[in-house]
Amino acid sequence: MLLMVSNLLLWEHVASKPTGFVSTEDLYDRVVDQSHTTYFLAADLYHEFDMKYFRSSWYKTRMPSLCHTASIHTPQSRDEAHETKTEDLLKTMINISHAWEEPLKHLVSAVPTLPGASDKMLKTANAVKDKTHVLLEGMKTILSRSHHEVEKDSYPVWSGLADLQSSDEDTHLFAFYSLVRCLRRDTHKIDAFLKLLRCREVFKNECF
Ligand SMILES: *[C@@H]1O[C@H](CO)[C@@H](O)[C@H](O)[C@H]1NC(C)=O
Repeated sequence: MLLMVSNLLLWEHVASKPTGFVSTEDLYDRVVDQSHTTYFLAADLYHEFDMKYFRSSWYKTRMPSLCHTASIHTPQSRDEAHETKTEDLLKTMINISHAWEEPLKHLVSAVPTLPGASDKMLKTANAVKDKTHVLLEGMKTILSRSHHEVEKDSYPVWSGLADLQSSDEDTHLFAFYSLVRCLRRDTHKIDAFLKLLRCREVFKNECF
């Protein structure tokens, strides 16, 4: 664990260096490193929530809603991903990451409201928030190198705040659950697609 934390700190340091003279290959290495860790932490967050707060009564009484990023189309198969242009995949992942900036702030604020939440959980939530931001900047840098800009368009809005702040404990916990479930799913997608892109752009698809 200690080793992991110090690796993260090291990475944070590297990530904050100017990107002007960094090769695109190195940028891909950085974002993949970042997305891999982000997914790992998001899965950890989900796991800890699941162990401590999940209620089996939810199976009967509550339906998980669609994730707020569900309207962003992502390739559904490996073939479809391979047929999608690099800039389009990057734009899609930038869209997803943007859409998480707001809910991640609320997620961090909501952790201390969980009964008996650990310090570790708060640290993890904070790390996911910070890393998502660094990752977003990294993907934008890569996109801008191919002379594509992120369009000034809107991002899907998350509407779960009222439930997350509800005084009804079951509603509150279920909203938290839905959020970490979607977070794990989206960070996994981003990680998988970035790995595919690195393979395509850096290794000319020679890594399968
Ligand atoms: C993000 O995705 C949504 C849903 O598909 C779309 O309406 C929006 O224009 C996208 N935003 C950007 C910046 O591509």
